[in-house]
Order: sequence, then C-alpha cells, then structure tokens
Amino acid sequence: MKSILVTGGAGFIGSHTCLVLLENGLDIFVIDSFINSSQISIEKVCLVLKNVNVDVESKIHLIKGDIKVKSDIEKVFQISQKLNKKIEAVIHFAGLKSVSDSILEPISYWENNVLGTINLCRTMEKFDCKNLVFSSSATVYKAKSNRLLNENDLCEPINPYGHTKLTVERILHHLFNSKKSEWRIACLRYFNPVGAHESGYIGENPLGKIYNIYPQITRVAMGKQSEIKIFGSDWQTKDGTGVRDYIHVMDLAEGHLSALIYLTEEKPQFITINLGTGIGTSVLEFIRIFEKVNNVEVPFSFENRRIGDNASVVADNSLAKSILNWLPTRNIEDICKDGWNWQLKNPNGY
Ligand code: NAD
Ligand code: UD1
Repeated sequence: MKSILVTGGAGFIGSHTCLVLLENGLDIFVIDSFINSSQISIEKVCLVLKNVNVDVESKIHLIKGDIKVKSDIEKVFQISQKLNKKIEAVIHFAGLKSVSDSILEPISYWENNVLGTINLCRTMEKFDCKNLVFSSSATVYKAKSNRLLNENDLCEPINPYGHTKLTVERILHHLFNSKKSEWRIACLRYFNPVGAHESGYIGENPLGKIYNIYPQITRVAMGKQSEIKIFGSDWQTKDGTGVRDYIHVMDLAEGHLSALIYLTEEKPQFITINLGTGIGTSVLEFIRIFEKVNNVEVPFSFENRRIGDNASVVADNSLAKSILNWLPTRNIEDICKDGWNWQLKNPNGY
C-alpha cells in the first residue's frame, strides 16, 4: 500500500490521520471542500513533519473538491494516475457531523453523507480501488446505559445524522455482498473523539456553534465562555452526570492506519469496529481532571437533561484490540493536556 485517498482530510480527525499516514511513509491525496475546515490544517500537518525532518512536499496532494460532485472525485483519481501513484485505498471522513444541524437541514445531511458516499463508491469502482475505511459513529447504536456497547448491539439512530451514518454502513454492506471477492470495507464506529496532537500544531477547530462538551471546556478555561452548562445531574451514573467514552484523536488516527493494514492483509470482507477506550468518564470528572491537569478553573452550572442524551455511552473495544493490533495509549489526562496546549497555541483557531 503506497497511496491513499483521504476524503475530508483537512478536518479534525482527517488532519490527525493524515499526519499518521505521512509519518508511516504513505503518499496521500486529500479531497476537501473546506465546508468545515481550511487548508491551514494541512499546512500545519506539513509543519509538524518538517520539524522532525520528514520530507512531505512530494507526498501530499491537496485538492479542493466536493464529494457531492462525482467529477471532483474522478479528478483526484486522474491526478493520481498522471503521477503514477495509483490510489489503493480510501479513508472516508468527508461528511457533515452536527446532530442539531441534521435536524434543521436533513436534506443537506442525506445529500452530503449518503449521496457523497455513493459518488465515492462509483468512482472507486471505476478506478478499480476497492479498499475503504468509513467514518461511522457510536450514534448509530440504540444506547444501553447499563453495559458496554459492542458491534452486534441493536442499531437505532434517533436523529437524521445517525440515520445517514447507518444508511451508509448498509449501502457499503450491500456493495460488499454484491462483489464479495473484491471489496474490503471497514466501518469504524467512533465514540467521542477529543484532544489534539501533542505538538499543539493541529487540533479541533470548530466553525459555527459549538455543542460538544470538550471544545466548550477549553473555551470556558480560556475565558471565552462564562461557564459549562451540565445537562442533567440525575442520570443513573457514578455522580449523576452523563458518562462518555472520550478517545484521544491521535489514538483514533492510529486506529485508521491499523484498520487499513488489517484490511489489506486479510481476505475481502465487510466489518464494523468500535473505536473507543472502553473507559467511561462523567462530565464532572472530565471538568475536574481538566482543571487539575492544566491548573485552570472551569465554572459550571446544572441544566435540565438534553433531549436525545443518554446516561452512559461506552465502547466494548475488544474487537478492535484483538484484530487490529491496536490499543488506545493516551488517557483522559493526556486528552486534557494536549487539547489545552492546542488551545493556548491557537487561541483563535487556525
Ligand atoms: P470535520 O467536520 O472536522 O471533518 C470533516 C471534513 O469533511 C471537513 O474538513 C469538511 O470540510 C469535509 N467535508 C464535508 N463535506 C464534504 C464534501 N461534500 N466534500 C468534501 N469535503 C467535505 O469532522 P470530524 O470530526 O473530523 O469527523 C470526520 C468524520 O467522522 C465525519 O464523517 C463524522 O461524521 C465522523 N464522526 C465524527 C465524530 C466526532 O465527534 N468528531 C464522531 C463520530 C463520527
Ligand atoms: C454528540 C452527539 C453524537 C455525536 C457526538 C460526536 C447528541 C445527542 N449526540 O454525542 O451523535 O456522535 O456528539 O460529535 O448530540 N454535555 C453537557 N453540556 C454541554 C454539552 C454536553 O453537559 O454543553 C454533556 C452531554 O450531556 C453528554 C456529554 O457532555 O453527557 C458529552 O456530550 P457531547 O460532547 O455533546 O457528545 P455526545 O452527546 O456523546
């Protein structure tokens, strides 16, 4: 495996994954419309690598394009052919990811996440590239608060975003079934990706309104927001606040490389794999750890529960650990330290 296409590679998880792929000697083609990112993240990825004397200039090809437009994807494959660098696999991050926006703009979500993926698969077939890693989400599960979620648990999304992710998983499964000897497809169900690369050069750079807890914690610590509103203090959890499985974005990025290696070494298959730590952290614990590790204050107050929330969402990650030869190695303290480092070095984002 030498050349990989990364859709949405300028985004949060994509940029960290590009870094890991380049560090491991792969050539990458990135297609991104920059609807939720900018090319600066890729420039920063290159800077990180130059600082450790990795030559990236000839290894990364960034193309502005929209996966809703099939000819944009075809263009990338054509460029790769001209350069004599056949794209052998795709890591597919491009998509819209806000639960609330998906309720307000469902058609945009179906168009982007589902139509975009269909365009991608058609183009991959055309260029005889049949190795695919897809960004799915734990949001596809019907949450079960009393135990860890495993890949065989019932899927029953409750918002349009989750439905688009599950629909794509099903389309990919049907595609595999139609040509079982050809496709290798892994759907990675992420739990809660947070943190930043330890250099502080790249991190999460949310554009628009922020709903997720972690970017809000760093904003409050920066004094850009007065407090965290904790949604519910009466959940059936260790301290009454919601429990989630927060995974360091670099562990997640490394999981993608492991998934690529696994896919290409094994027989053709379709597989769904949880990427989480298996460890639950409550909102209160998260805030307290962030305060302690970074010696800052994060004021909070309690609000009513948020509609659609669950008490606890934590991964059973035994499948990933057993087949991918992958282990998350960074803990919640590292998440707090690295995310804060990124925030301090980039107070206004990219
Ligand atoms: P992100 O928004 O930072 O990255 C997505 C990237 O895709 C952005 O750079 C955006 O500009 C690009 N993009 C969107 N639509 C596009 C299109 N039509 N054509 C080309 N580029 C397009 O999000 P992220 O957090 O890095 O998430 C990456 C993927 O992982 C998404 O598919 C998301 O649904 C999924 N996911 C994310 C989380 C999370 O909490 N961050 C959790 C589970 C799953
Ligand atoms: C949310 C999405 C999920 C998506 C994930 C990653 C919902 C219902 N779920 O997950 O589909 O895959 O983001 O993008 O939107 N919290 C507060 N105050 C806040 C924000 C959050 O107390 O201002 C709490 C929540 O109640 C929850 C925890 O913090 O217990 C984590 O919330 P969040 O970061 O939004 O992630 P999820 O809800 O797990």
